Amino acid sequence: MVTATVPEQQVKIGPTQLLINNEWVESVSGRRFATINPATGEVICEVAEADAPDVDKAVQAARNAFNNGEWRRISATRRGELLYKLADLIEQNIDELARLETLDNGKPLQESLGDLGLVIACYRYYAGWADKVQGKTIPISGPYFCYTRHEPVGVVGQIIPWNFPLLMQAWKLAPALATGNTVVLKTAEQTPLSALRVGELIIEAGFPPGVVNILSGYGPTAGSAIARHMDIDKVAFTGSTEVGHLILEASAKSNLKRVTLELGGKSPNIVFADADMDAAIAGAHNALYLNQGQCCCAGSRLFVEEKCYDDFVARTVEKAQQRIVGNPFDPQTEQGPQVDKEQFDKVMSYIESGMRDGAQMLCGGNRVGEEGFFIAPTVFADVRDDMKIAQEEIFGPVMSIIKFKDIDEVIQRANATMYGLAAGVWTKDITKAHAIANNVRAGTIWVNCYDVFDAAAPFGGFKQSGIGRELGEYGLQQYTEVKTVTIKL
Ligand code: NAI
Ligand code: MG
Repeated sequence: MVTATVPEQQVKIGPTQLLINNEWVESVSGRRFATINPATGEVICEVAEADAPDVDKAVQAARNAFNNGEWRRISATRRGELLYKLADLIEQNIDELARLETLDNGKPLQESLGDLGLVIACYRYYAGWADKVQGKTIPISGPYFCYTRHEPVGVVGQIIPWNFPLLMQAWKLAPALATGNTVVLKTAEQTPLSALRVGELIIEAGFPPGVVNILSGYGPTAGSAIARHMDIDKVAFTGSTEVGHLILEASAKSNLKRVTLELGGKSPNIVFADADMDAAIAGAHNALYLNQGQCCCAGSRLFVEEKCYDDFVARTVEKAQQRIVGNPFDPQTEQGPQVDKEQFDKVMSYIESGMRDGAQMLCGGNRVGEEGFFIAPTVFADVRDDMKIAQEEIFGPVMSIIKFKDIDEVIQRANATMYGLAAGVWTKDITKAHAIANNVRAGTIWVNCYDVFDAAAPFGGFKQSGIGRELGEYGLQQYTEVKTVTIKL
């Protein structure tokens, strides 16, 4: 167990090898790579680096567990019990896991704890489903008895991003395991540590060997090997729309594995002049800045009605200027660093592009501190729909405020994007709220709230924001195959 000293904090690092068949192993190549503390830019430790041969080993273990192992024979109720046990173990280790998440990702400790609340709820939610996934009996014509079985898809490859490492692991593992699949999960190269610690808890909970395999590694190597693999039955991916295209293409070129994708967004958040302004200003602030702005569903196109625009902008800038940026382990901190240098540079280049295109930068725009990847909360006003900062996913603490006149116009402009992940609307007029809810093409609509997540409520994208849904009962469908059985009477 390695221990790192982060400003007055001891953080237990946990395992750094690959988890294959319930054993901790080095990679076939013996290579390791460094994971960085984004608050300081310093190396935390090195972890084993998986590549195609390690993916092969993990898939073999998962295939064996699926076809021949104990997992195949245990009852659905027992699968639920194992997931409940895992949730309990995570809860018992919540402080340790939260500190590890904050160390590796940079998100404020309070937010890591918040994520963990959702993580535990997600495992429990799907634990409850394990023995409630059932088929139908169907009255077909003739002397036959016809019924359906909802069977696991098989060996599932899961590729997750770095913005919510523990939560994305839960969204992926919980429904897959509840329905009886086995898993090869690859974490994001920026944030391998917390998922590995959960791997230890998975063994402790009693999951049989091969059911869950966890690999640290890069996208073009280990990730691509999963996407192309001939013996993986399904891939679930969360990340950029660009890589989403590659995953689907790899499926088409290999074995037509099932693919679910949760990709990027440029979500409209629409504020009408009749809204509760205090709630709208606070809501728009959180919708954009939460998690350093690194949310797929960030309210990153903030449409504000002309009648309240000037007042809204002034108060929003004031609020952004008060946001506390700093050491993520400090309980006062509201915003930590961006996850790595690449993301930092990307966000800074969008800030430059906003200025070049003539948007009005009213605060922020600069780096904070000398070390780490901190960026000041930034507000651009008078943003036009055709500017790059209004069209592309920035994934950082950069707000773009756009003026609108009336509801028909804002619906049309809200939909003028290749994305369709989420949207928000702030109004006291129920008719307007319904008009937005029904006409904006996005997988989630929040009315007078934002970023309300619950394991029971499905989440996913229209258009190029994704394929399929995660969470809720809908999320189960993506992890089962329907089998029709017909018996002559
Ligand atoms: P990415 O899509 O490259 O990475 C996400 C995951 O995919 C990681 O585990 C990565 O290793 C893997 N991956 C990368 N290339 C792959 C490939 N060729 N085959 C298989 N797996 C691959 O995202 P990245 O580079 O970390 O961030 C770029 C942008 O993507 C961000 O600035 C943001 O706009 C967006 N993004 C969206 C996320 C979301 O929640 N929807 C999460 C992370 C990033
Ligand atoms: Mg990438």
